[in-house]
Amino acid sequence: MKKKILIVENESRQAKLWMTKLEEEGYKVDWAENGKTACDKISQENYHLILSDIRMPQMDGLQLLDWIRERDKEIPVIMITAFADVDSAVRAMKKGAYDYVKKPIDLEELTQIIGKVFRMKVLEEENVYLKNELSRKSGMLVVGESAEFKKVMDLIAKVAKTKSTVLINGETGTGKELVANAIHYNSPRKNAPLVVVNCAALPENLLESELFGHIKGAFTGAYEDKKGKFAVANSGTLFLDEIGAIPVNLQSKLLRAIENQQFEPVGSTKTVFCDVRIIAATNIDLKKAIEKGEFREDLYYRLNVFPIYLSPLRQRTGDIPYLVEHFIKMYNIELKKEIKGIEKEALDVLMSYYWPGNVRELENIMERAMVLCERDILTAEFFKMLHNKPIGPKDGLLDQKPLEEFINYQNEKKYSESKKKFISSFDKNFLIRTLKETKGNITKASHISGIDRKNLYRKIKSLGIDPKTFKN
Ligand SMILES: Nc1ncnc2c1ncn2[C@@H]1O[C@H](COP(=O)(O)OP(=O)(O)OP(=O)(O)O)[C@@H](O)[C@H]1O
Ligand SMILES: [Mg+2]
Repeated sequence: MKKKILIVENESRQAKLWMTKLEEEGYKVDWAENGKTACDKISQENYHLILSDIRMPQMDGLQLLDWIRERDKEIPVIMITAFADVDSAVRAMKKGAYDYVKKPIDLEELTQIIGKVFRMKVLEEENVYLKNELSRKSGMLVVGESAEFKKVMDLIAKVAKTKSTVLINGETGTGKELVANAIHYNSPRKNAPLVVVNCAALPENLLESELFGHIKGAFTGAYEDKKGKFAVANSGTLFLDEIGAIPVNLQSKLLRAIENQQFEPVGSTKTVFCDVRIIAATNIDLKKAIEKGEFREDLYYRLNVFPIYLSPLRQRTGDIPYLVEHFIKMYNIELKKEIKGIEKEALDVLMSYYWPGNVRELENIMERAMVLCERDILTAEFFKMLHNKPIGPKDGLLDQKPLEEFINYQNEKKYSESKKKFISSFDKNFLIRTLKETKGNITKASHISGIDRKNLYRKIKSLGIDPKTFKN
């Protein structure tokens, strides 16, 4: 599929020239002669990239950029600046433009920059993909051998076959999201999506539109129809995480959507029907929330058709050796290590610790130990810090990383190398361009770029650029 580019430029001769070049390069190109027309076109079409002049009558390029960023954070925008207008270029970059080109445009340079931006988009998308992949995969491996946990596995297997609503309850890090994954991927719905909504992450009005969608014009900022998560999860599973945080006002609409499998998007009078399996999770006591008037009793009973309780890790220490073995296997692959096992003394430390962050905390500690370990066996020295932490019932004392943050941290590691490479190539391109303009004169380049001459010189050296090559 051809990538679609929108050129925003008031001078038609220039625009046509760039269009021809970009079409030759295999892109599909549209042209808008001013900011207003550009807004209209962007509202109607899905462009992959916007190339916009900064200086235009009425709505200028920076205002257009603001408008774009307000409604869609993702789409790459490249700005075109006048030769001497470094200020606006810098302002544009700060506002979230991906890059800029200077007039008169060197067509080769333009195609290179566009190519680079698309490559960077791919990297960003890969990151999102890795994220999904990781959480999906973790759904496949539920480890536990204690009598307590075997009961849970049994429940998962039984309920997976049905469409019953499941309510998972347990402290943070006990595996609620993992169990939700296991249920979905062992159910007849496994080939349809598993959609996750964290009810604590959004304020009431946004949460309503997140769940049920909205129609164009339903509220300021609703530029087009948006599907809600109920609709996206159609014929699949909707995982409502932290259900205790859902505002009371939304609870009746949610109840009706679950009970009758129908709802109206925000601003719409048309009823939408859906076929969605609901799994909800909470780490608070919903009964207490009912007493306080924060949770509707009827919704509670509707959700609690099939309750699953995940007990804290400290109450099922029998699972610890199996989890440890599982994490060793997992991180051997991920960290490219060949660790064979754990010393008894070290395992004893793990068995007697209180684990306020439950399995997530164990996983983090195992990963950390494996990063540090240079032999093929984990020894007690890696778990020394656990002695310093409270051993006893002091819930909520230690920081508890949410899953997203943890996955981000893992992905960050994979991603940072390519990001670093990208940033240094970005610096390099910028310096080369500036040096080209000044024909290798570092003092002039220092003026244009606003970088102190000495620093600039050091940077040029460190990137292996020879300023002499730009002399002619
Ligand atoms: N039984 C288990 N077997 C293997 N891994 C597990 C198990 N239980 C939890 N984990 C791992 O521990 C981490 C935390 O689990 P998860 O995110 O499902 O917890 P949670 O109950 O949803 O926590 P929170 O309430 O903080 O959102 C995940 O990386 C998960 O894969
Ligand atoms: Mg969770």
